[in-house]
Order: sequence, then C-alpha cells, then structure tokens
Amino acid sequence: MKISVNKTRLQKEIDDLALITEAVPPVVTRVLFSESDLRGRAFVKNLCREAGLVLREDAVGNIFARWPGADKKLPAVVTGSHIDAIPNAGKYDGVVGVLGAIEAIRALQAAGFIPKRSLELIIFTSEEPTRFGIGCLGSRLLGGVLSLERAAALRDRDGKDLQFWRAQGGCQGALDSVKLPKDCYAAFVELHIEQGPILEAENIDIGVVEKIAAPSTLRLELTGVGGHAGATLMLGRRDALLAGAEIALAVEKAATTTGSPDTVGTTGVFRVEPGAVNSVPCRVWLEIDLRDTLVKTRDAALGQIETAVKEICTRRKIEFTMERLNVDSPAICDAQLVATTEAVAKKLNFSVKRMISRAYHDSLFMAQVCPTTMVFIPCLKGYSHRPDEFSSPSQIEKGVRVLAAVLAKIAAS
Ligand code: GLV
Ligand code: MN
Ligand code: MN
Repeated sequence: MKISVNKTRLQKEIDDLALITEAVPPVVTRVLFSESDLRGRAFVKNLCREAGLVLREDAVGNIFARWPGADKKLPAVVTGSHIDAIPNAGKYDGVVGVLGAIEAIRALQAAGFIPKRSLELIIFTSEEPTRFGIGCLGSRLLGGVLSLERAAALRDRDGKDLQFWRAQGGCQGALDSVKLPKDCYAAFVELHIEQGPILEAENIDIGVVEKIAAPSTLRLELTGVGGHAGATLMLGRRDALLAGAEIALAVEKAATTTGSPDTVGTTGVFRVEPGAVNSVPCRVWLEIDLRDTLVKTRDAALGQIETAVKEICTRRKIEFTMERLNVDSPAICDAQLVATTEAVAKKLNFSVKRMISRAYHDSLFMAQVCPTTMVFIPCLKGYSHRPDEFSSPSQIEKGVRVLAAVLAKIAAS
C-alpha cells in the first residue's frame, strides 16, 4: 500500500489553526475552554467530519473521532494529542499529533485501506496545565489517575472550578463516565514534536519513545503583610515576594543538587498582589514544576523544596499553603509496540532513535489504559513552548507516514 501524505494541505491546516489564538499571531495561546480553544475544537471537529469520522465527546470534553473498522468487536487502535496551548506558545506542540493524525487517516483512506479494527483519534482536553495548574486533565480522567474528588476540587486562579468550565465548554454527562475500561483499546500511538534538541542535532528523522519522565507540580500561596513602600521601614517587613524569591532559588538548588542531570525544576508561575511599585507585596502565588526520569531523585528534590518552603516562611513570618497538585510516576512504553513502530519507520527508510520524553504527554496516562508509545519528529533547536517552535513540512510528513503505517499495521490485524 502506497501512503501519500499531502504535506501542503496539512501545513495550511496547521497555519490556519495557529490563527485561532488569544494572542497576536504568530504567538499561539489557547487555554482550556477559552473562546479560542472552543473555536480551535470546532475547526478540528469540522476536519474530522469532512474525513467521514464519527464524533463523540465525553463529559470532560475529550473528543473522539472514529473510523469504524470492519470488525466492530475488536478493540480500536488509537492516536491523538491536544490543541490547547500555553500562553506564548508556538503552533506545533500537540497540533502535529492531531492534524497529523487526521492527515494520516485521510492518506490511508485515499490509499484504499480498509481497517479491520476501528481507528480512533482522541483530541484530549487540557493537556496543558494553564487553567488548573495540572496537566493532562482529560487523559488523567480517561486513565482513572485523577479521582473525582480531586477533579471537583480543582480551581483556576479566579476560583472557578471544573464544573464551571465544563459548562462553558458545553460538556454533557457526569465526570464518572469518563474513565475508560482497561484494555478497551489495542494500542495508543501519539505523534509529537520532540521538544528537545536531540533528533535535530543527530540528524535523525524519527524518535520512538520508550519512557516518559515523571512530572510533579506544587502550588503555593504565601501571605505576608503589605503596606506603603516608602513609609514601611525595612526592619520587620513581612514581604511575601521575597519569601517567594527565596523559594524559587531553593527550587533551582534542589534541582541542581540531586546528582541526576535529569532533574529539572521551574517556578513558572509567580503572581504578586497588589503588584504596585509603591506597595510591599502582601501575597504571592507560585506554581513549581519538578521532573525527573527517576522517581527517587524527583521525590528527594520535592521533599527538599517542601522543607525549604517551611524554613523560609517561618524565618520570614509568612503564612503559607502548599499543595501537591500532581506527583506522577513515569510511563514505560510497551516494548512490543516500540519495536513495531521502530521497524515500521526503518522499513520506510527513515533513521530512527529510541528515546526518553522529558516533556509529559497524554501518553503518560494512556499508558494506564493500553499499550502505548510515541513517535517524535525533530524540531528546530529543540525549541518548544515559545512562538518560534518549528518543524518543517517534510519533517512532519515523515512523522505522519510513520503514524499512518503503524496505525494501518495494527488496524489490519
Ligand atoms: C507538556 O506540555 C509539558 O509541560 O511537558
Ligand atoms: Mn506543551
Ligand atoms: Mn504537547
């Protein structure tokens, strides 16, 4: 079967979706169930309909687009990714795995392929943590990794909960219907840009993911005492920002002293109240992202940060709340699926490397449901989560060809 990918059409769709943004193009920002996220979802659903796929949505807004197979009783083979985008993002993260999957399906249809198993695309809700501080909301619920109590307790920075945002997103049904039964799918394969520099530096076409690093997130609220910046003398100040600044440095220290080069720590959210130049900061909110390929070193660093928070806040007489939003395990990808994907890519004459994903993905949680792996393509200098993120049409085309061939191989058996 000759699979021919229309890379010009796919690039046009990537470019068009990038224009649906809360920011000024080329910056892409699409936060969960914002107006632009809803328009982006409508754009993608329309492409799915045009490709003849059967659509359904679950109670948290995960979108399922199915190409029914000849044998409806067999578990489907699934692909998918996300289209939500963090503030100041580029146009490829997640999108390549969604629009690329639609192109893979169209290419298989055009090649006359008749799937025995159904072939399904999932567009996951809120892979990015921007709204609630926790990433992979949709796939966590699909994988049964997030309890309904924890989901109900999620709040955004304005105190709005998931129930509110589900209503904004037009989600129907109860959250307890989202969890998928184990082994309801034959396999899950996600196409994604690498978001790291290795494939480009080594001039390799395709990465096949064997393991996904273990992420964790802390959310802190620090309360000090505000006042007039001129009239409040330095002695005895209880400045919440200064405590936060010390904590951010403690995160850096914890992440750089585990002995593992794979530990990474980032204080990516730091909001200050009242945010006036002539007022002592009375309250700050921090969100801290800490990851490692090994749980042991990640957890050691996490404990070190929590101890530092207590010490800093006590010394500075700052009240604090600290919450572990998520502390996840790494995902080990399915060895057989990894081998199949690698063999398929080699058969297409692409250079291939097995690799670890340092970024997290919905695959981290789909691995709880069924055999899972990921197909990575190179991206410029490893840039991601920034507007100059870039993969070329021919790099994307190779990824789509591998995805299509793997999906076809599994759907045919
Ligand atoms: C996903 O976007 C991540 O932060 O790894
Ligand atoms: Mn991302
Ligand atoms: Mn992504």
